[in-house]
Amino acid sequence: MLDFTFHNPTRILFGQNRIKDIASEIPAGSHVMITYGGGSIVKTGVMDEIKTALKGFTVSEFGGIEPNPTYETLMQCVARVKAEKVDFILAAGGGSVIDGTKFIAAAALYEGEPWDILETYGARVTKAVPFGTVLTLPATGSEMNCGAVITRKEFQAKLVFSHPSVFPTFSVLDPTKSFTLPERQLANGVVDAFVHVMEQYLTFPVQGGVQDRFSEGLLLTLLEEGPKALKDPEDYDVRANIMWVATLALNGLIGAGVPQDWATHMVGHELTALYGVDHARTLAVVLPAMMEARREEKKEKLLQYASRVWNLSEGSDEARMTEAIAQTRAFFEAMGIPTRLAAYDIGEEAIEKVCAQLTAHGLNKLGEHQSLPPDQVGKILAACL
Ligand code: NZQ
Ligand code: ZN
Repeated sequence: MLDFTFHNPTRILFGQNRIKDIASEIPAGSHVMITYGGGSIVKTGVMDEIKTALKGFTVSEFGGIEPNPTYETLMQCVARVKAEKVDFILAAGGGSVIDGTKFIAAAALYEGEPWDILETYGARVTKAVPFGTVLTLPATGSEMNCGAVITRKEFQAKLVFSHPSVFPTFSVLDPTKSFTLPERQLANGVVDAFVHVMEQYLTFPVQGGVQDRFSEGLLLTLLEEGPKALKDPEDYDVRANIMWVATLALNGLIGAGVPQDWATHMVGHELTALYGVDHARTLAVVLPAMMEARREEKKEKLLQYASRVWNLSEGSDEARMTEAIAQTRAFFEAMGIPTRLAAYDIGEEAIEKVCAQLTAHGLNKLGEHQSLPPDQVGKILAACL
């Protein structure tokens, strides 16, 4: 029976020129801290637009949140939020800035050592400073969910936490703000969103008919629009569709009431923590091998995926599954993302290291059946070389 729980309080302000509307989303009189990354929002003019929209508020800034945001950097902002009595945060950037802001928001009101938040996956969070976002990179879905992934450099650990208090109160989704993305980041975004859908779709059937159709619609849209976005970076309609897909892929909608996998993500996080490979690139490497190794366990959904997403109707079950996996890999490659570890200069030695880190992080039973132990992950990684 379907267990359907879906709660999402984030208001979406979608379309061109929506930054000007943020003032009415923030309580009057707030001291607002703008958080951002390495400076892309300054170069592109997003920062100026935000400052114009925030006339009348007290405004501070915290820049320098890096891709795969680190505890070490974020704690500097936590100290400022506390000292300056900030009562609203505005995150402007991609998933890293938004995730980092979620941690800042929760850590600023946390009693105790904030790294606990990650070690307990968010279970001990009770409240957070409210925040909104201006999204510049469609990819993670962080703009409409309550999860975040934070790295602690000294431990080479990249861990996830989630808590309802870190849903953004609003998110501005203006597709034109993604026009300036380098190809690599655009491709990363398309592949990350694709894999988010796969983690919630490619499990086993539970008669979640509408979730399946939503998921297939999101995948097909990415297959259609992803390559177009690479060709013409300023096609508004293409960017708008990609932005909606990325947000809807991980805002709770398609995952409600259905089993979820996430093994590819957990293995990918360890690869990023150890080798600094972009998040989406780790997924492009791991997912095809994960699908291959678990094709029997996922057979029914894999055949459905082959038929409804890749239109494969000829040949044996085995042949269609093989072809669907090959097409998935080919799509990632066509987006410009290599799908073998060798392309990232990672060799066999990674296998043991990743498995040891999974064990250290208590990730011993991955997948929708909690049945994937680190030694099996090792075999999957061997197939990624
Ligand atoms: O830092 P700035 O200068 O802003 O530059 C960024 C960064 O270098 C640049 N960029 C962003 N928007 C731009 C732009 N450059 C030009 N024009 C623009 N409009 O892109 C680079 C990458 O940004 P980042 O935020 O790191 O990328 P992404 O959005 O892919 O986020 C990746 C992070 O999100 C986590 C990942 O693990 C990773 O740490 N994830 C978060 C999830 C969540 N909260 O639900 C789920 C995901 O599975 C993922 O794990
Ligand atoms: Zn992801």
